[in-house]
Amino acid sequence: MDFLRIVGGKKLSGDVQISGAKNAALPLIASTILASRPVTIDNLPNVRDIKTLLKLLDNLGASFTHEGSQATIDTSSIDSTVATYDIVRTMRASILVLGPLLARFGHCEVSLPGGCAIGQRPIDLHLKALEQMGADITIKSGYVIAEAPKGLKGATIIFDKITVTGTENILMAAALAHGKTTIINAAKEPEVVQLCEVLQQSGIKIEGIGTDEITVEGTGGETIAMPDFAVIPDRIEAGTYLCAGAITNSEIRLRGVIPEHIESILVKMRQMGFDFTIDGSDITIHPAKSIQPVEIVTSEYPGFPTDMQAQFMALALLANGTSIIEERLFENRFMHVSELRRFGANIQLKGNIATVIGPTKLYGADVMATDLRASSALVLAALAAEGVSNVHRIYHLDRGYENLEDKLNALGADVTRLKE
Ligand code: UD1
Repeated sequence: MDFLRIVGGKKLSGDVQISGAKNAALPLIASTILASRPVTIDNLPNVRDIKTLLKLLDNLGASFTHEGSQATIDTSSIDSTVATYDIVRTMRASILVLGPLLARFGHCEVSLPGGCAIGQRPIDLHLKALEQMGADITIKSGYVIAEAPKGLKGATIIFDKITVTGTENILMAAALAHGKTTIINAAKEPEVVQLCEVLQQSGIKIEGIGTDEITVEGTGGETIAMPDFAVIPDRIEAGTYLCAGAITNSEIRLRGVIPEHIESILVKMRQMGFDFTIDGSDITIHPAKSIQPVEIVTSEYPGFPTDMQAQFMALALLANGTSIIEERLFENRFMHVSELRRFGANIQLKGNIATVIGPTKLYGADVMATDLRASSALVLAALAAEGVSNVHRIYHLDRGYENLEDKLNALGADVTRLKE
């Protein structure tokens, strides 16, 4: 197993190119199941989750070529509709094949994703919505078995909770359903918007893109002529590098960002005393004179993303005062707290609220990554700590950050990947 050895306390400088968004790429790759022709996707991040989903499609019988940031996927040869446990258990987002497989083939079996490090994360809302579209769903031997032999039919879906992958699954299902589907309380994340736009460019009539009410006119089972396209930049990777600049109090420039996608992150960083220069798709972070404490409540887009909560907690350790961080989306997303304490952090936890008492002098430590974003918080703390840290179990990081150590080292950090 790999781990990262990080010598902390280095100032960063220079430029970092932001990769394509993993969470946009995953539903977009799944959506090629709906396509009538091979589709070339550009700006894919070179991370493990993408390879995992391509492997899943390969298992279903699809063919693909994948080199660098580009993949061409041909789903015309799919001859299985079973997403097996061995793949789904490694990546929850595998559930994204449920909607498109069912819509195209009228049948599919997808292993239940099961528990996950950051909470229960059920898929009940996905299943309830598909049932409303006429699917017959049973759970047997750990698999979701979904049948709609005559195809799915349009329906009005009201999501009780805003769900990102749930909205994406239903958008893909609705694209090939008979008639009109209206999704109420839909997710508005930029990744959902890009999926809508690509479906629209494929000839599907969609209204309400980027709002919480989306209507989709289905093709009645016809596959769609999907264009080639490039994935939007990763707003969470961008936010993480801004935190790397902030926590080392350095000036660095991010290239290839969509600034409006990270507005809530910039707002919080400004409150903490950091300043930015935005020039088209480039953002430069300028150091703070004194880092101020912050209050953060995670919420759905355009609110502050839960996927940035852990990184901001690392940054709050250096703030001159007490920060309050409330996690509203996932019930168990504070597992980084005990690891941050190993660097010397003073954090009190009560339910879903963390009180971070700063400023803290951080010292290098051995720490264990627990989930994808928690891992990046540990790397950030290690960059700011005095001395050497070892971040173990970085396979979590490899799921979602492209070339993390190369990108950080190019900025002047001292990060080495080693084997346990
Ligand atoms: C996606 C992102 C993840 C991000 C999260 C919230 C991908 C691949 N992953 O995850 O990085 O942290 O959005 O922004 O895009 N819920 C239910 N029942 C369901 C579905 C969800 O109760 O059927 C609950 C969840 O437990 C959670 C909330 O709804 O409390 C939001 O989850 P959801 O938006 O579905 O997260 P994901 O789509 O899994």
